[in-house]
Order: sequence, then structure tokens, then C-alpha cells
Amino acid sequence: MIRDIQDKILELKKKYDICILAHSYQGAEILEVADITGDSYKLSVEAAKVSNANILMCGVHFMAETAKMLSPDKRVYLANPDAGCPMAEQMDPEMIEAIKAKEPDRKVVCYINTTAALKTVCDVCVTSSSALKIVKGMDAKKILFIPDINLGTFVAEACPDKDVMLLNGGCPVHASVTEEDVLAAKAAHPNAKVLVHPECRPAVTKHCDYAGSTSGIMDYAAKSDAKEFIIGTEISIVEHLQLKYPEKKFYPMSKKIVCQNMKLTTIMDVLNSCKAIGGDADCDKHEIIMDAELIAKAKVCIDEMIRLGG
Ligand code: 13P
Ligand code: SF4
Repeated sequence: MIRDIQDKILELKKKYDICILAHSYQGAEILEVADITGDSYKLSVEAAKVSNANILMCGVHFMAETAKMLSPDKRVYLANPDAGCPMAEQMDPEMIEAIKAKEPDRKVVCYINTTAALKTVCDVCVTSSSALKIVKGMDAKKILFIPDINLGTFVAEACPDKDVMLLNGGCPVHASVTEEDVLAAKAAHPNAKVLVHPECRPAVTKHCDYAGSTSGIMDYAAKSDAKEFIIGTEISIVEHLQLKYPEKKFYPMSKKIVCQNMKLTTIMDVLNSCKAIGGDADCDKHEIIMDAELIAKAKVCIDEMIRLGG
């Protein structure tokens, strides 16, 4: 049944010149039909190179918005229009402008999980896989890192020569993990390596063997000689790793790390979006429409991320 739906998607994406981008937190049945899969950094770099007329994003809204900014001549669609990222909405441009007015020499570094409107007032954008490299390489000594206080703390600790100002934002999913969760997982699996996303709290990351982005965690697990791993990020990564490396064992650090927004997109959403892009009036498509001026202003910090992070 799922195989039939997948076959139809493969047929339609070829017929209607659609490139499917899927974040690694999507289900395996969606990753299998995607052209490009990966973490936020990989998706944004690859979105700029797509040659198809249509891009279908399976992820959350800011990812589709980023793809649109990087490929403004393409038509970009979000497979499920309700899939947003709560962190992306946590701060507004006026709040940041007020800080900049008081401290004009403080450069604003924003996580890619932000709205395009917020990106217009930021100097450089980062993802979890590029944040350290980019902040370390910046000439500026004074940084305002938004919105994720946990990723910001992780960056600040690795850059003691910088004055990093943080605000109180973050990913509610990763921040739900507690020190008790990580200690309980370690007690249950004492030989496992602990791999954690830096969106988790410092009280959690301090117990890890490795902290890094989704791709960083997956690469570590692939290359490590260890046989068991506790995974401190979205629970889908535990499943993907277990499928890919059956000879190793993967345990969730906590079963609370489930992003309901990432889970909104279903394989039927992907099929219906492909049908709608092809003109089927019975199906809905959710095109990302952005003002050219907004794109021009917000894209500056994304281009800077690709220049400094490449
Ligand atoms: P990365 O894709 O950068 O690992 O970020 C994880 C995440 O929470 C995406 O929304
Ligand atoms: Fe946003 Fe967190 Fe979900 Fe990623 S995991 S989309 S940061 S809420």
C-alpha cells in the first residue's frame, strides 16, 4: 500500500519536474521518495542548486521559506501547511532592533529556525552544524545569538574569546529532556556512547560523548567502533540509524523528544502536493509566496552563512 503511494509520487515528481527535499526528522517512507535528505544546513545548501521548476519541502515552514529565498525563481511548496517550528516564531524584529540600537557593534547571529522577517535584522544565519565554525570565524567580538539559548550556550562555551549575549528562546522538544533522563539512559546502557543535539540543555549536553547537528550525530554513529548509542535528538533519528546500521544498537535518550510539527507531514500529503502541483484541482498545494523585497533583505544573512560555512 505505502509502496503504491510511493510509486505514484515517483511518477508524478518526474512528470511535473518536482524536486522533493526532506528533513531527516521525516518518516522513512518520505525520505525514501525524496531527492535530497539531510539536516537544515544540507537542505539549505542543496536548495540553492536545484534545477527543477518545483521544490516540495517536507519539513517545517522556515525550511520552505529558506528554499524559496535561495531559489526565488522556482515555485516552492510546503507539503503540510500546518507544519511550523515554534522556535522560529519566538522573537520579533523590533525586539532585536532595540538591542542593536543600544549596541551597534554587537553582530546578530540567528539560528536558521527563524522567520524571514526576523532574518532581515540579522547579520549572519547559522544552523546547528555550522554555528561553531561561523561564530569562531567572525571578526566581531560581541555577538547576539538568537533564538536558542541552549545552542547559544554551546557556542559561547566553545568561543571563550567572544562576548556572546543570549535571549531566552529555544526548541521546546529538545529542551524537554532533563538531566535525570540522560542519567537514567546511561544507567540502563552503561556501554553506550551518548550523542546529543546542542538544542538540548547544557545539563544534558555535559553528559555526552558528542554534541552536534542531526548529520553530525548520524556521521558519528556511522564511523564509531562503538556498538551502542543513546540518541539525544528527535526520535526519528533513532529509527533511521537502527534501519541503516542493524549491527549496532540505538536507544532514545527520552521518548519525549518527538517533534509534533515534523510529524504532521504524511506520505499522503506528499502525494496530494505532487498531484496539485500537476494541476489536480481536487488536491491542495501550499505555495510559499514571498515579497521580493523581503527575500532580498532576509537572504543577506543566509548568503553570509553559506559563504562563511562552506
Ligand atoms: P538540524 O537540522 O540543524 O540538526 O536542526 C534540528 C532541528 O531541530 C531542525 O528543526
Ligand atoms: Fe522546531 Fe524543535 Fe521541531 Fe526542530 S525539533 S522543528 S527546532 S520544534
